[in-house]
Amino acid sequence: MPSIAEFGVYVHVPFCSVRCGYCDFNTYTATELGGGASQAAYADHVIAELHLASQRIGRRAVQTVFFGGGTPTQLPAEDLVRILGAIDQRFGLAPGAEVTTEANPDSVTPASLATLRGGGFNRISFGMQSAVPHVLAVLDRTHDPARVPDVVAWARMAGFDQVSLDLIYGTPGESTGDWQISLDAALACAPDHVSAYSLIVEEGTALGRRVRRGELPMPDEDDLADKYAQADTAFEAAGLSWYEVSNWARDDDARCRHNLGYWRSDDWWGAGPGAHSHLAGRRWWNVKHPRAYAERLNAGDLPIQESETLDSDALLMERVMLELRLREGLSLEAVPDHARLQAPLDRGLVTVTGNRVVLTDAGRLLADGVVRDLLP
Ligand SMILES: C[S@@+](CC[C@H](N)C(=O)[O-])C[C@H]1O[C@@H](n2cnc3c(N)ncnc32)[C@H](O)[C@@H]1O
Ligand code: SF4
Repeated sequence: MPSIAEFGVYVHVPFCSVRCGYCDFNTYTATELGGGASQAAYADHVIAELHLASQRIGRRAVQTVFFGGGTPTQLPAEDLVRILGAIDQRFGLAPGAEVTTEANPDSVTPASLATLRGGGFNRISFGMQSAVPHVLAVLDRTHDPARVPDVVAWARMAGFDQVSLDLIYGTPGESTGDWQISLDAALACAPDHVSAYSLIVEEGTALGRRVRRGELPMPDEDDLADKYAQADTAFEAAGLSWYEVSNWARDDDARCRHNLGYWRSDDWWGAGPGAHSHLAGRRWWNVKHPRAYAERLNAGDLPIQESETLDSDALLMERVMLELRLREGLSLEAVPDHARLQAPLDRGLVTVTGNRVVLTDAGRLLADGVVRDLLP
């Protein structure tokens, strides 16, 4: 019998106070939202989706919950707690479930953090991005970097077990000295977990337009590789070890179990506008706009836009892409043709340990290329 996959619930909160110039996530500021959808009614709509979801798939213990966005903490903490209560009521939270919310440092207070913690949240991930004002300005971030240590301290005071920080490197105009300042500032907060992403210049964003017009340079691949290595050195020296190419944790318990579920192709229900779900090889995604989402639920329907069942080739490709990025590596059985391992082995990009293919330090910088080597 195949083992039953872990089950998680993702809640997408599609609201932000301002749109950062680099971000193309499915999120809306008050002016972008238009009529027919409101932040005030959002919790009720998500709760209606969770009710329909439990009717569709039945009760199933939830090991992890992740509120992402957008900016979940743009909503009153009471709304997030109410949604979490509905997840527990409809599906049942497993004992020791990991319950995370993303947060913008601008949008929390000691009181809101205490409400979240009291309501069952035990992990929080702050979007720090950088500690350097001129870098934050290019990213259009509005938060004061001096606030980050404060919000981490408030989260600790509120009793959060796990605190994570998100960083971005490779912003135009960021020197290696600037990046070191951000790394040191993040580590001074003693986080349990850090995510560091290279800046992706997305089409259709304000940043994308500025790069296309030549006002800002495209991030440079060699600079990104150097900054990745710089981050890894700083994190390892501070006792945070990588467990996925862009993620480091204090120990195994500090890894994000919810994201590990995605990377290991477990099952999850994604609630909220544009959220994706995956159950036993079938995946679907919700309508993207909050107005369309609200209309579907008001009519008593699940807000599903489209679904697909992955064929075995697509499943394999996804598995290689996601599992190879994990420190535990990719199972050898997932490599369709073992002869394809020779090139990355010769270039020192992977090792084979037991029955797992594991990226070396050099391989972590070139993970996407290794995936292309391994797949037919
Ligand atoms: C939903 S946001 C986190 C919470 C909150 N909205 C905030 O930004 O503070 C998720 C993370 O994705 C990352 N991100 C978004 N767009 C990105 C891009 N174009 N390149 C690199 N990282 C990006 C940022 O690090 C951000 O913290
Ligand atoms: S990075 Fe975060 S705060 Fe900025 S627009 Fe994207 S989701 Fe909103």
